[in-house]
Amino acid sequence: MNSLQCRNLRLVFLLGERPSLQLNSLVIFAGWVITQNISMLGRRFLLMQNADFFRGDNPEGVEARNEVAALAMEDMIAWMQEGGQVGIFDATNSTRERRNMLMKMAEGNCKIIFLETLCNDKRIIERNIRLKIQQSPDYSEQPDFEAGYEDFKSRLDNYEKVYEPVEEGSYIKMIDMVSGNGGQIQVNNISGYLPGRIVFFLVNMHLTPRPILLTRHGESRYNVRSRIGGDSLLSDTGEIYSKKLSNFVEKRLKSEKAASIWTSTLQRTILTAGPIVGFPKIQWRALDEINSGVCDGMTYEEIKRNMPEEYESRKKDKLRYRYPRGESYLDVIQRLEPVIIELERQRAPVVVISHQAVLRALYAYFADRPLKEIPHIEMPLHTIIEIQMGVTGVQEKRYKLMD
Ligand code: F6P
Repeated sequence: MNSLQCRNLRLVFLLGERPSLQLNSLVIFAGWVITQNISMLGRRFLLMQNADFFRGDNPEGVEARNEVAALAMEDMIAWMQEGGQVGIFDATNSTRERRNMLMKMAEGNCKIIFLETLCNDKRIIERNIRLKIQQSPDYSEQPDFEAGYEDFKSRLDNYEKVYEPVEEGSYIKMIDMVSGNGGQIQVNNISGYLPGRIVFFLVNMHLTPRPILLTRHGESRYNVRSRIGGDSLLSDTGEIYSKKLSNFVEKRLKSEKAASIWTSTLQRTILTAGPIVGFPKIQWRALDEINSGVCDGMTYEEIKRNMPEEYESRKKDKLRYRYPRGESYLDVIQRLEPVIIELERQRAPVVVISHQAVLRALYAYFADRPLKEIPHIEMPLHTIIEIQMGVTGVQEKRYKLMD
């Protein structure tokens, strides 16, 4: 998809590609579009237009914006016809006329949920306007902050003049939910599993900036012997990593009183977290390594020699291959859903100490990597991946703590 089309957002990962939904998708879930009302994200086509372009009584401006919206919608429908399940159409859609156009285009192709976010907090609006001028591509070529600020304010006035609240079709309204204190969510004409999951996801997500630190456990005794799975202790090198990690976390999160450390239930992650003090530690079964079933404790060489068919099947399709009496990557992705929702919900930093396969899936979710790449993502030992979540999207830094 190109930049005019819907972005591959995290919600799509979570809801649109759940393996358990695939059987039903054609009949029940095919084609949900969430369209966002009152979003001020500009499309590349509309960049560097001044506020006049957005006036409701400027016919050229209205026509050009409708044209772009229709093009984006066409792209989205084409993507859904190729098997896409949930698309996010990010635009203002703040008039009934525009929404009617989208609903007409959707007829027979997909269902639409409008998402309207309302914010009555003047400070938050002011902060978001400032961020918009500083960080949005709409104003990247405007060197004068004040001029950008004034222009954007009059653009908002122009939108306000023609704004008609969403009262039609299926919609979700999120009212004053930004701060995490109170707020309200209104849900209209929404039923079914997938739409219900969308509501659940939206209730839990927010844009408060906070880091998520992902790391594998320190080297384990099984790692040293190239054995997979198991529940072994740390090697000497792994123990050194656990101390270095503790120093790092102490420095990085010293002023973050509400931070927490999440591990799996396996010894190697619990021991890696051992030296970290001053933060609550939570063990998640869902963070345990991929279950390698009958191959648990073997080396890849042994699997190749003793179970060549299994070895070949995994090589052919590592994403879908399920170890006999164990799991596939798709199984791991599915069991991570509650962890992902909890990570979205947190407003304080979280350190996740887990395992190679699990971290590949978690990382792919935040970094927007396609499903088929997940089993092949590099996830080295003794490296911290810091994901910064916030208004401007997701940023990433890496720290290698050992040479
Ligand atoms: O080798 C370490 C390990 O965490 C194993 O326990 C696990 O089976 C494996 O990595 C997962 O990686 P891959 O899917 O590449 O085999």
